[in-house]
Amino acid sequence: MRALPRLAIAALLVAIPAAAVTVTVSAHAAEDPTPITVLTSDFEDGTAQGWGGRSAETVAHSTAQAHGGTGSLLISGRTAAWQGPSLDVLDTFEKGTAYTISVWVRMDSGSDNARLSVERRTGGVAAYDQVVGNTAVTSGSWVNLTGRYTLATDVEFLRVYVETASTTNSFHIDDVTASYVPALPIQTGIPSVKDVVTEFPVGAAITGAEIVTEHGQLLTKHFSTVTPGNALKWDATEPSENTFTYAQADPLMAFAKANGLKVRGHTLVWHNQTPSWVFTGADGQPMTATAEDKTLLLARLENHIRNVAAHYGTDIGVWDVVNEVIDESQSDGNRRSNWYNVTGLDYIRTAFRVAREVAPHAVLCINDYNTNVAAKRDHLFNLVSTLKAEGVPIDCVGHQMHINVNWPTIAETESMLTKFVPLNIDQQITEMDVSIYTSNSENFTTPPADRLLKQAYVYRDMFALFRKYPGEITSVTLWGLADDNTWLDTFPVTRKDAPLLFDTRLQAKQAYWGVADPSKIETSPSPSSPSPSASVSVSPSASVSVSPSASVSISPSASVSISPSASVSISPSASVSPSTGTSSCAVTYRVTGSWPGGFQGEVKIANTGTAAYSGWTLDWQFTGGQRVTQLWGGTPAQTGTAVTVTNASWNGNVPAGGSTTFGFLGSWTGSNPVPAAFTLNGATCAVR
Ligand code: XIL
Repeated sequence: MRALPRLAIAALLVAIPAAAVTVTVSAHAAEDPTPITVLTSDFEDGTAQGWGGRSAETVAHSTAQAHGGTGSLLISGRTAAWQGPSLDVLDTFEKGTAYTISVWVRMDSGSDNARLSVERRTGGVAAYDQVVGNTAVTSGSWVNLTGRYTLATDVEFLRVYVETASTTNSFHIDDVTASYVPALPIQTGIPSVKDVVTEFPVGAAITGAEIVTEHGQLLTKHFSTVTPGNALKWDATEPSENTFTYAQADPLMAFAKANGLKVRGHTLVWHNQTPSWVFTGADGQPMTATAEDKTLLLARLENHIRNVAAHYGTDIGVWDVVNEVIDESQSDGNRRSNWYNVTGLDYIRTAFRVAREVAPHAVLCINDYNTNVAAKRDHLFNLVSTLKAEGVPIDCVGHQMHINVNWPTIAETESMLTKFVPLNIDQQITEMDVSIYTSNSENFTTPPADRLLKQAYVYRDMFALFRKYPGEITSVTLWGLADDNTWLDTFPVTRKDAPLLFDTRLQAKQAYWGVADPSKIETSPSPSSPSPSASVSVSPSASVSVSPSASVSISPSASVSISPSASVSISPSASVSPSTGTSSCAVTYRVTGSWPGGFQGEVKIANTGTAAYSGWTLDWQFTGGQRVTQLWGGTPAQTGTAVTVTNASWNGNVPAGGSTTFGFLGSWTGSNPVPAAFTLNGATCAVR
């Protein structure tokens, strides 16, 4: 974890009076349904329940301690800190599914840090994925480790394990569970961000598994560039001197290539996520500002860039050559990193010179956060001006844009952009996310609707600003794909954040509409509760749409009454068809996944008529007694076997020849027959 940038914290702590927000909105975020548990080890049956050791340590049932019930698992006789309990999950975990793994840990004696990981092997090569990092554990109480894990690759070996950081003391584990929430399909019927924003490429940062299944689909639907979030950093690519590994980045790069995504390389030089050997001198001591150490450090830097940049060649068209070199609390503005302390500014000069030589095609960036803070912005400007005047090949300034719903202002951000215009270099927004938190002391279990609405406005206004500078801004990247995986969940404090365009189940948020179509940002209550502003329009082609659940009665003399207080407009020439209108719809109903007791379905409504729908209500019967438990892209209602789904605010308009699709989760017992008939706005549809 990177050190806490002072200003980022300051920025988060700045108490900017928030405009009173009274609006409530439906987040359109799918609520998390009950997770499906795939693994439980409670050690209540007197056995080790399949757990073994990672080596020759002893793993045995114990009644000396128990988190729940009377039994636990005791791991003793350890001769190394990495030894601990491990369980085979090869047949339990599926590739691309995000599992939440929980384990309770208690030391038998003493104290240590415990961590939870997964070991996987492909072609005999082992990799170790940390699920929960070092967490203090004592013999005095049980401590829970919970984390999420998604397997991204095919494996022949897969085991979950617990180890400790330093001691070989015995410890207990208990009440281990692994569960997942069935993935929702991504919404394919909404505009792609990359098609809406055409002034510059729009991208997302991703980590390991976000190239498989729904995450990969979401990435390619909406984005045209991608940044490996961690996989190209020094600790990932050169963990020990002159040993280069690309195991993390290569799968992402292959996916990008196969899907025509451009890649931003992040990052060649940083003060974080850089192994300590880099700054250790030939004498084994931490480097200082001696000529000898400086020569060695610059040689290591040059070797690193030559290898990493050359490995990917032209596949990486932009590099963040140096990251976060400014510290505006220093009078000269230069961050006192190990790099600076040993080499002065020469590490920046060397990095750009070597990067240009090895990757002459690439756009070379200097990247930093809080560049919308005047003091920092100005130091960065001065540094770039000076270095460029010397001939250092800096092509681009990267503005990270880690912001929140209250900060910064559009004006501050515009000043950030205009400041660099005279330098005649590219500007890129490299790591944008919009935290829902405005101070470090806030903590929401569910993102409040008013924050999500503010966030939508921030995304709307920031993108509108960026689009005013198409000649300056050459790409905009979000620091993450969806709210299920954001670094802000643990930075600057641990709490659930929701800073991106898609929610934890990959469904479009208001923030998405802020970028894709601000007219669709929903400022009124959700369609599930009738709103006073419900409107009914009857067009000459006589489709009647009622949204949301207002009741409408139409008499032959075309008087319309609506409750509650919806407004109705009927054009004089409107002829209102009876509710048994002719077919102008075709419905395709698919079960896309099924498991004992549950299933996932998808319904496509095609408008086969000649007039657009301006709102729709679809009815069918679940004759097998199935129940809709959750639905996205519409509002469901079910009475007995009768299911009614009304459009969401954003997919009510379906042009003639167009279609819309919604998905749902359901429960079933006995059988799960496909509905035989559907009516749309009262008219029977063709079934496809
Ligand atoms: C973050 C990653 O997203 C995290 O997974 C990691 O633990 C820490 O680094 N500025 C940067 C990025 O330049 O590299 C950081 O990425 C976020 C802040």
